[in-house]
Amino acid sequence: MNRLIIISNRVSAPNQSGAQGGLAVALQAALREYRGIWFGWSGETVESFTGSINFNRAEGVTTATVDLEEQDVDEYYNGYANRTLWPLFHYRIDIAEYERGFAGGYQRVNDRFADTVVPLIEPDDTVWVQDYHLFPLGDALRQRGCRNKIGFFLHIPWPPRRLLATLPEAATLTRTLFAYDVVGFHTEEWLDSFRDYARNELGAVEEEGDVLCLDGRRVKLVVAPIGIDTAEFVAAASSVPARLAFRQMRQSATGRDLMVGVDRLDYSKGLEERFLGYERFLNEYPEERKEVFLLQIAPPSRGSVESYQRIRTTLEGLAGRINGAYADVDWVPIRYVNQGYPRGVLAGIYRAAKIGLVTPLRDGMNLVAKEYVAAQDPANPGVLILSRFAGAAAQLGKGAVLVNPYSAEEMSDAIMLALKMPLEERQQRWQAMMENVTAEDVLWWRQRFTDALEEV
Ligand code: G6P
Repeated sequence: MNRLIIISNRVSAPNQSGAQGGLAVALQAALREYRGIWFGWSGETVESFTGSINFNRAEGVTTATVDLEEQDVDEYYNGYANRTLWPLFHYRIDIAEYERGFAGGYQRVNDRFADTVVPLIEPDDTVWVQDYHLFPLGDALRQRGCRNKIGFFLHIPWPPRRLLATLPEAATLTRTLFAYDVVGFHTEEWLDSFRDYARNELGAVEEEGDVLCLDGRRVKLVVAPIGIDTAEFVAAASSVPARLAFRQMRQSATGRDLMVGVDRLDYSKGLEERFLGYERFLNEYPEERKEVFLLQIAPPSRGSVESYQRIRTTLEGLAGRINGAYADVDWVPIRYVNQGYPRGVLAGIYRAAKIGLVTPLRDGMNLVAKEYVAAQDPANPGVLILSRFAGAAAQLGKGAVLVNPYSAEEMSDAIMLALKMPLEERQQRWQAMMENVTAEDVLWWRQRFTDALEEV
């Protein structure tokens, strides 16, 4: 294949150490053996937008980033992306904010991205746009004469039609996706919702092979669940930092079973419900109280947005209340930590944990679930408790203990089941998940999508 130009809001510096989101790590792995460019926002602001590009090359990946104005960040990133689209696409119309100023800023930044990236695109390049920050980018590129193959991938759910209909720009936004050649989703469910909206609200017509037509434009829809760089993560799990973290966790656990959760501090992750489910468990099984503890790692995210400030306050209160009610001089039920850790350290912690808790209320995929699986010791693997509303459930559903995260009772039952699960069953379940995590890794994902793009 020719050069791949990946465009996403956030670009992680290739040599950045420390905590990085699963998506950024996956994109880095997807680009590594391509002569390609990864373009996006630098994360920095400037007085007024210049479009000047900062190039950086490390570990086989070239990144190209631009600075945005403060108003851009307010309206596009904090505003439309994270106060409008993110809650709506995670089924939270109760907290989604609809403001024309946000929509305007969103379009402006997409236009600015298009103006800046167009000169970098050569005729044979394939362009791949990522995620909800950049829905209109393909259309903006077409308007600037770009005739390359352009694909789009959505990493979050696509909401049901009747929820999406509450967004004033729903039709325009959906229409812009027809500027792409291929649009990808993590699950059949998200793809179905998109097709449902496009057909019933816009009058798009379906052709054979998951192709939709609207106003003379054809777009191919594909399901391509993203994976992790499995080989790299398995190696990370036996690295020196992982072994140190593993030993430290085991020592500080003093013989008790560790349950671990690692999530950005986001209301979609179901952390409040997780704490309540765990509280229910402590209540229901008093004899288990000192046998187990929960380590919840939750690095703060999108802190300028009010709904994120609120969830942070709520969780602090809840963790404090549960610890106050149940802790003893030699035991605390919840270790609640607001910082991120390097991948090697996380891998060691995952391996030390008898239970991995991944219980979002709604999630496009969730790569923590896959990392937890990849980090396990095959001889003595832990149990993954997974929300049925995470995209990952479509692939890992056979091996994980699936729960409805809204039900504290189900959560409590699942914890008990996992704690008491015999070794043989744990191994069988883990094996089933590991086969999937190995076969459908991040390179498989990239290939599946780029093949679809080549074919059109
Ligand atoms: C989700 C989104 C990504 C985003 C990541 C981190 O996974 O799908 O596009 O990069 O969260 O969020 P942030 O706002 O910090 O980029």
